[in-house]
Amino acid sequence: MDKYLIRGGRPLQGQIEISGAKNAAVAIIPAVLMVDGVCRLENIPQISDVDMLLTILEELGARVRRVDATTVEIDCTHVHFADAPYELMRKIRASYYFIGSMLGRFGTAKTTMPGGCNFGVRPIDQHVKGMTAMGATVEIKDGFVYADTPDGRLRGAKVYLDKVSVGATMNIIIAASMARGRTIIENAAREPHIVDLANFLNSMGADVRGAGTDTVKIYGVDRLHGGTYTIIPDQIEAGTYMAACAAAGGELRLKNVIPRHLECISAKLREMGVTVVDGEDSVLVRSNGRLRRVNVKTQPYPGFPTDMQPQVSTALCLANGTSVITEGVYDNRYKYMKELRKMGANVVVDGCTAIIEGVDALRGARVAACDLRAGAAMVIAGLCAQGVTEIVDIHYIERGYEDFVGKLRGAGADITLVRDEQDAVAVAAAE
Ligand code: EPU
Repeated sequence: MDKYLIRGGRPLQGQIEISGAKNAAVAIIPAVLMVDGVCRLENIPQISDVDMLLTILEELGARVRRVDATTVEIDCTHVHFADAPYELMRKIRASYYFIGSMLGRFGTAKTTMPGGCNFGVRPIDQHVKGMTAMGATVEIKDGFVYADTPDGRLRGAKVYLDKVSVGATMNIIIAASMARGRTIIENAAREPHIVDLANFLNSMGADVRGAGTDTVKIYGVDRLHGGTYTIIPDQIEAGTYMAACAAAGGELRLKNVIPRHLECISAKLREMGVTVVDGEDSVLVRSNGRLRRVNVKTQPYPGFPTDMQPQVSTALCLANGTSVITEGVYDNRYKYMKELRKMGANVVVDGCTAIIEGVDALRGARVAACDLRAGAAMVIAGLCAQGVTEIVDIHYIERGYEDFVGKLRGAGADITLVRDEQDAVAVAAAE
């Protein structure tokens, strides 16, 4: 099994370049299915979720050309409705965006129920509510989602989301872009990647207004044309390195960020005693000794992001007092706490609340990455711990962090990726 080995105790120094936003890219790539012409996407993060989505598009008949490491050209002009590669689809959460883009392009869709990190129940009822309001019949049977329209095209509708959902907001925006007439989403999510998706669609000829507010209006168009689009920097990747520097100590400059998107994270770190200085497209983070205890409640944007909860909770394991964390988005996002306890953390979890009593030190141990952000949290714990930390199940981390090891090593961390030779031999034999 591949693993990371970390020798803790080194502060982070220098600078790290932030990649394109995962949660924008994983919506934009499925949305490209609706584009008639060549779409050039820049600042694509090099992560396994992106690779899987590009493979799905290729298997649907798209021409995909890697121009360089972070630029890809996709031509979906000659794609026809076809069975999607279900084994890949069911592995990733973002495959649900194909419901919207297939409905938009073909008026019919068949996908698997989405996979993704396990934080308890993750229903897609709000996606279904939106598609149904736009005239689709949607059936979920035997792990598949079947959606169809009576005359091959969705029609605009008013959708009031019962829950602020990033995925449902983006999926409805995608589908409505090619619907007949106007769609209004009320109680929409407002994350930066929602604005990015809208900007992408608009640059291809769509008419999406109000993204970034809780009311989004989409005026359906007949055709989306090709073009070039640059994806925004990843808010959570940047936040992860900010939390890492806060916890491990040192001074780190994060380049290629939008400081305004990081404000919800910077504000909390400042409360913890960390210096955060915004530049034009960078932030400087300086850790000033022991962290102060704080309370954290996760909420949809512009609240504190749930995707930063494990990383900041891990930093708080070393703060000077008791912190209370309230998870306001998911039912079960604390599975990683049992791994932190192996490293000496003092944490009690009760439902959606975690009570963290700061300790003087963590110690290295063999721990697992329970999911993407929990895996990043284990890396942060390892950077701070005394001795060596071994992290297994790192494939979760590789889904969403581009070159995590390389970037941390560049900032002075003692972290090594150990590839399992047996795995490598098995892969070579299969090829
Ligand atoms: N929800 C419903 N019904 C729905 C959709 C969502 O009840 O139809 C609930 C969820 O169970 C959850 C809450 O609403 O309790 C919010 O879920 P949301 O739909 O916003 O999340 P998502 O679209 O499934 C995306 C990101 C997650 C991120 C959340 C919240 C992608 C592929 N995933 O998930 O990213 O945690 O938004 O910001 O964009 C990650 O990057 O590590 C990650 C898990």
